[in-house]
Parts: sequence; C-alpha cells; structure tokens
Amino acid sequence: MPTEIIFATNNANKVKEIKAVTGNLLTILSLEEAGILIDIPEPHDTLEANASEKSKVIHQLTGKNCFSEDTGLEVEALNGAPGVKSARYAGDTRNFQANIDLLLNNLEAHANKKAQFRTVISLIWNNQEYLFEGICKGQITHQAKGISGFGYDPVFIPLGTDNTFAEMSMEEKNLYSHRKKAMQALLDFFNQVGVL
Ligand code: IMP
Repeated sequence: MPTEIIFATNNANKVKEIKAVTGNLLTILSLEEAGILIDIPEPHDTLEANASEKSKVIHQLTGKNCFSEDTGLEVEALNGAPGVKSARYAGDTRNFQANIDLLLNNLEAHANKKAQFRTVISLIWNNQEYLFEGICKGQITHQAKGISGFGYDPVFIPLGTDNTFAEMSMEEKNLYSHRKKAMQALLDFFNQVGVL
C-alpha cells in the first residue's frame, strides 16, 4: 500500500497537478478527500511562512503526516511583485482575470518581461517540518493566451517553449512546472529516508 499523506489545499488544480507527479508512489488526500472542510488563511509575507502555517494547522487538527504549498509569481521589473500577494493582487476577491489584467497593465511600460513562479512546500513528516522549493523561470506575455490550467497560466511562458502554461496539457506543464520541481524534491527526500 502506498504511503498516505494529506495535501493541505482546497485548490483542485493543484491537487490534480500533484497527483500527476506522484502517480501511484503516494496516496494523496486533498482536504476535501480527508473530510476537512476549512479554508486556511495565508496571512504572512513570505511563501515559506504561509506554507508552514497551512501544514501546521492541518497537522494540529489531524496529527497526521501532511504537506502544503504556497506559490507566487515573481516579476523582475516589478521588484518581485505580485509574489506572496499573487492571489490577492487585484483585491480580496482573488479573481484570476482581474489579477491578470492588473499584471499586464503594470508591466505594459516595461520591456523586461522576465518572471518566475516559485513554489514552497512545507512537509510535516513524523512531527518534523521540512521545506522544499521549486522555481520555473520564464516571461510574461503581452496578452493572455490559452484556456488550460488556472491563475496566471495564460500569461506565463516558461523558458524553453513559446507556449503559455494555459496552452499546454497538464503533462506538458509538469515538464517545466515550479510545483512539479518542489514535489520532486519532496519525493527525493522520501527516497533518501526510505519512505519510497
Ligand atoms: P496560492 O499558492 O494558492 O496562494 O496562489 C497564489 C496565486 O498564484 C493565485 O492567484 C494562484 O491562482 C496563482 N498560482 C499558483 N500556482 C499557479 C500556477 O501553477 N500557475 C498559474 N498561477 C498560479
């Protein structure tokens, strides 16, 4: 039987992407699948602190092994913004379209479109916390393209391709993805300590 672990998120897209990475190596339970119906706040000013908060809340609640992740889009010409504020860039409604519109607007005057997605995973394993990071470098487009994925996917082109994440299948996105890289680091850790 694969090891079971709770992924502390309510984001169905993130769950799908992570399950595609782990395949049948692990049994991943989303919060919904674990029967935990709460929305965990992300009040901190770093991805690390938000990820930690989410995994610690779920660990305290369940006593079980779990992990969480927090992701930000860091744009060079905007001094790393929206960064940890990516979800609420255009306001508390967390509207994807409004966030994209504001980003394209703020970047319009800048020739430098370089950006990166950064994911931090906080794993709580046997009552101890471990952090893992995944970065995907690329650039922001002039306009949104594609309909797959979520969030800023329609305006982000990873290095090494001409397509936005939203023009890719999930399998293609996972060839480049920040989340995939962070999860791979977690799997490497599990390999090292003999869980896999
Ligand atoms: P959070 O990690 O859920 O707080 O995400 C922060 C913001 O970045 C949200 O607006 C997400 O929709 C967006 N986001 C997170 N991961 C991705 C991704 O893989 N692609 C595009 N947008 C993302």
